[in-house]
Amino acid sequence: MVYISNLSDHVDEEVTLKGWVYNYRSSGSLYFVEMRDGSGICQCVVAQDAVSEEAWEQTEALRQETSLQITGKVVEDERSVGGHELQVTDLKIYQVAEDYPITPKEHGVEFLMENRHLWLRSQKQWAAMRVRNEIIYAIHTFFQERGFVQMDAPIFTGNAAEGTTNLFETEYFEDQAYLTQSGQLYGEAMAMAHGLIYTFGPTFRAEKSKTRRHLTEFWMIEPEMAFYDLDMNMDLAEDFIKFIVKRVIDRRPKELEILERDTSKLRKAVDEGFPRISYTEAVEQLKSDDMAAMLDQMVEDRKKEAAELKEEREEIEKERGQAKKWRKAQIDERVIEIGKRLDEIEEDLRNIPDWRESALNFEWGEDFGGSDETLLTMKYDTPILVHRFPAAIKAFYMKRDPQDEKLALACDMLAPEGYGEIIGGSEREDDLETLRKRINEHGLSEDTFQWYLDLRQYGSVPHSGFGLGLERTVAWLCGLDHVRETIPFPRMMGRLTP
Ligand code: 4AD
Ligand code: MG
Repeated sequence: MVYISNLSDHVDEEVTLKGWVYNYRSSGSLYFVEMRDGSGICQCVVAQDAVSEEAWEQTEALRQETSLQITGKVVEDERSVGGHELQVTDLKIYQVAEDYPITPKEHGVEFLMENRHLWLRSQKQWAAMRVRNEIIYAIHTFFQERGFVQMDAPIFTGNAAEGTTNLFETEYFEDQAYLTQSGQLYGEAMAMAHGLIYTFGPTFRAEKSKTRRHLTEFWMIEPEMAFYDLDMNMDLAEDFIKFIVKRVIDRRPKELEILERDTSKLRKAVDEGFPRISYTEAVEQLKSDDMAAMLDQMVEDRKKEAAELKEEREEIEKERGQAKKWRKAQIDERVIEIGKRLDEIEEDLRNIPDWRESALNFEWGEDFGGSDETLLTMKYDTPILVHRFPAAIKAFYMKRDPQDEKLALACDMLAPEGYGEIIGGSEREDDLETLRKRINEHGLSEDTFQWYLDLRQYGSVPHSGFGLGLERTVAWLCGLDHVRETIPFPRMMGRLTP
């Protein structure tokens, strides 16, 4: 069996491909079948006089997503999807798919989500999953090459790591358990045994917010390093992200093209250092005159762009009446494009005043909202690292800044282009009595944390770690609007099927 991704090894040979009809069109005695086999798409040309009568009958029965086997000669063809074309000599159907619900026309996202089990076959979704896979591969490669040991934290747990507000509770025989919010606490125990470890597992949070950044079930990668301080932690996080982005750019150019991702923006994250600013500096930036001026300028720019687009649309719509068929098609496509961009602009123009208001009124001590994160990254082309947050808004396990007790030695990485927080991390509290005090202050039960306190009793050392959200990383690298398209079967508030 030959896969479409390997066709370049088979030029001028006769091969058999097995797959599904992605698209097709016919013109009399010729059929152009775009076949997909999971590894790629190949145009297969069936000429009535080049195949048996039986094969031609089968060809005429083809519908979108019909499963089939095609035999033919591979020829190089620059203009064809994937760069090859198959001149078909034989064709056999496995099963005719009637009325496949996802047609090449535009569908609403709710409809597509209901049909997620089929939507996964569409080109963009296919490309996003390939990028996701490349990211996962890059993550393992990065850590394995640096001597980290991958270990698994439990999913049933009695410990709330990240606050008690979004815990999923479940029965556990006579007891009550939670689904894990983070593998970190266990990761710390593992790091005391192995020095450098990382966990890679599913994570559950009962997020009641319906935002484009939140899932209830997502995958987190959590390295934990003995003897690392906050600066070493941030250095590692930056190297890690640079490595992942470079891998995806180098190894998935075709997928990024399908996703229409502007890779020049991603390349900056590989080539340039990530700015590091303290939380306090970030707050100053939000409240600054510069920020207000930048937002006012943005409003002006958007309005100007909208006016230009509307003018262009008027002109090409006038032209459409007398235009040739190919030009009409071109115009229709451009009109759709303009419409989409105008919707985006309209949304921005609705949002910007709120963002501006929220930024200017931000008070030291609050947590950043999604829009604050977007604004903070706006003047940078790379991710940024924000460090030293008010301890009061961070988790109990974070070490305080010896320079200022109000601050936790925490760091968040914010992705550019509005993708927001992709990494959260910190140096950990390593003193037994201080940690005991924090657990009590947070209203957590000392009993359930006894094992965790033991780590400070028996050979405590400075240590740090962070957690990367896989889906947000996929969204950023693919340029996707919403995390629901970054995981095969997303789980969100109001979505448990398919
Ligand atoms: O910032 P968080 O809550 O950090 C922790 O859980 C730490 N225990 C990590 C550590 O230090 N070992 O979550 C880490 C990352 C976030 O930056 C975000 O990328 C992702 O996990 N994340 C979510 N992704 C999708 N949906 C959600 N509801 C998410 N909540 C967090
Ligand atoms: Mg966080």
